[in-house]
Amino acid sequence: MFRGKLLAACGALLAIMLALPADAAAQQATGAKAGLNDSQINAALQAAHAKYKNLAEGKNADYIPALAKVDPNIYGIALVTTDGKVYTTGDITSEVSIQSISKVFTMAKVMEEQGADAIEKRIGVDPTGMRFNSIVAVEFAQKVLGGPEINPLVNPGAITATSMVAGTTRDEVWKSLLGFYSDFAGRPLTVNQDVFKSESDTNQRNQAIGYLMYAYEFIKSDPMRATDVYTEQCSVNVNAKDLATMAATFANGGKNPVTGKQVMKAENVPGVLSVMAIAGLYDDSGKWLYNTGLPAKSGVGGGIIAVSPGRFGIAVISPPLDDAGNSVRAQRAIADISNTLGGNPYAAGAHSSEKARAE
Ligand code: DON
Repeated sequence: MFRGKLLAACGALLAIMLALPADAAAQQATGAKAGLNDSQINAALQAAHAKYKNLAEGKNADYIPALAKVDPNIYGIALVTTDGKVYTTGDITSEVSIQSISKVFTMAKVMEEQGADAIEKRIGVDPTGMRFNSIVAVEFAQKVLGGPEINPLVNPGAITATSMVAGTTRDEVWKSLLGFYSDFAGRPLTVNQDVFKSESDTNQRNQAIGYLMYAYEFIKSDPMRATDVYTEQCSVNVNAKDLATMAATFANGGKNPVTGKQVMKAENVPGVLSVMAIAGLYDDSGKWLYNTGLPAKSGVGGGIIAVSPGRFGIAVISPPLDDAGNSVRAQRAIADISNTLGGNPYAAGAHSSEKARAE
């Protein structure tokens, strides 16, 4: 009985070993490091695009007037593997403003310039459990928790991080920041001047946050300059492929897999991804992580990036947002695609692509 089972198991093992070369060949020159082939990836992207194309939930952000005017039908999906293959579907030429997604790249910039400790000690790396522009969160951290207990992905921490970017003049800071973002995207990025003006005209709350952070000595330079640079960084134009390439650079240890440029130190990537995991989708960060396992970041322009470490970066752009401020289609499409492709880093052995190969 036992001998029979052993022989059957050996037979199955032999069959798997014989099947392997064909499988490996199919993955050559494709998303091989991601353990996936072209048709699996394209099918996943196209299925998610079709499934949510007519979803009519959510609405554009309108507290920044220019965002209310963006076409809500823009819907683009891109995935970039760590070996530099780019997969896209839907609208990938339209650009939206990067908004809060910029916060992770500014955080990374500060870590590059001052080390990982600078973020942890000066701002904090803990979730606030409150809205992204909460002033109560700052007061609570100061008065109840007693120190730097927020994070660089909510506005008070983000404006503080922007204030920490090295440079003697505003122009120097801005050029260095935009150059850093562009290296992640692999092309020179530009600013959406309409969005920048619209937000500059209406960002009194962020100015108040800037002054509050200055009063508490988190910000040690001109808080209005920091708020202004922060507003400009949020106005950078990106398409889905830019965002996916930026995410893939994190997935690839800080090296842009398309251009081959080492944009940031590999040692700083885990810190950025950790904060994305705890705070990337604001009040819904826990729910998102529970369902996907992916460090991610959303922006009120309608983009979301997500990172499957060592495998791929993915991005979706679709402006209508849910009540938490996260793109409705982007959340659903990324969750579907990642779960189909086995992107969840916590789910080793349970990936559907691995299951599909084993069956
Ligand atoms: O500071 C703001 O309000 C915007 N520039 C960015 C907010 C944002 O993207 C939050 N996102 N989910």
